[in-house]
Amino acid sequence: MQRYFVLLLCLVVIRATPQNYTVGDTSPDIQYGGAKLQCNASSCPPEFTEGAFNHSATLTTGSITFSFTGTAIYASLDLIGTCSIMLDDQEIQTLNLTVAHAIAGVRGNISKPDLANGFHTLVIMPTGNLTLIGFDHLVYTTGPPAKKSHVGAIVGGVIGGLILALGALFLALFVRRRKLIMRRNQRKNAVFRGIPAARHDHKAGEEDEATTELL
Ligand SMILES: *[C@@H]1O[C@H](CO)[C@@H](O)[C@H](O)[C@H]1NC(C)=O
Ligand SMILES: *[C@@H]1O[C@H](CO)[C@@H](O)[C@H](O)[C@H]1NC(C)=O
Ligand SMILES: *[C@@H]1O[C@H](CO)[C@@H](O)[C@H](O)[C@H]1NC(C)=O
Ligand SMILES: *[C@@H]1O[C@H](CO)[C@@H](O)[C@H](O)[C@H]1NC(C)=O
Ligand SMILES: *[C@@H]1O[C@H](CO)[C@@H](O)[C@H](O)[C@H]1NC(C)=O
Ligand SMILES: *[C@@H]1O[C@H](CO)[C@@H](O)[C@H](O)[C@H]1NC(C)=O
Repeated sequence: MQRYFVLLLCLVVIRATPQNYTVGDTSPDIQYGGAKLQCNASSCPPEFTEGAFNHSATLTTGSITFSFTGTAIYASLDLIGTCSIMLDDQEIQTLNLTVAHAIAGVRGNISKPDLANGFHTLVIMPTGNLTLIGFDHLVYTTGPPAKKSHVGAIVGGVIGGLILALGALFLALFVRRRKLIMRRNQRKNAVFRGIPAARHDHKAGEEDEATTELL
């Protein structure tokens, strides 16, 4: 019985394990607030997008907005100028990098783990007139598997977990009942053959009582 229960419990835990999702610069979930140029092998020098996610990066002088349901967000930006990083309308970070940084390959890192599991909005807001952002991709972390509806994801996760746990309980009870019936039948066979049963003090009436209780 315990074996099945532990197995199904593991399935419930695996279902709720955090997962990372990568969102590229061309994703429709990314909103650009200003002028932009999508760089890929055909529109920019190939070196620029060589290591990029999906071989594409976007240059922009405007804001970048992304909403997600999860517990963490990470990004790494090419940047010349200054940026304010806003999460749910609060500034969590500022970035300030120069042309020298860009040439040396230094990027601005955005990292916000340990968020409350829920709906969040990240805004990368340029704060100088001469700020240029090179955006490749970002990564966000979910608890339950991502779904289209944010409320659906949370409710679905909880209900899905409950149904699995109930399923585990039913299966465990079913297996236990079957084992008890099997053991009873074995004992009955043993008595018929005149071989002493495992438990000498056990009477037929008691066995039936125990089985009826489980049925
Ligand atoms: C998600 O990515 C971040 C940043 O790369 C990393 O620190 C974290 O461990 C990852 N989480 C999972 C569940 O893979
Ligand atoms: C490459 O970028 C240009 C714009 O810069 C875009 O029109 C084109 O569709 C992109 N190509 C691919 C394969 O994404
Ligand atoms: C990669 O880029 C292509 C063309 O822009 C797009 O259709 C596709 O969805 C992208 N794949 C990912 C994983 O973002
Ligand atoms: C950005 O950094 C440079 C030097 O590294 C400094 O002169 C400048 O004032 C900074 N700008 C902002 C907005 O912090
Ligand atoms: C961002 O992270 C990379 C590697 O994780 C590091 O090399 C780089 O210096 C970081 N950028 C800044 C501005 O600290
Ligand atoms: C940005 O440009 C506007 C005009 O387009 C100007 O009024 C403003 O002072 C500039 N700001 C900075 C920080 O240079």
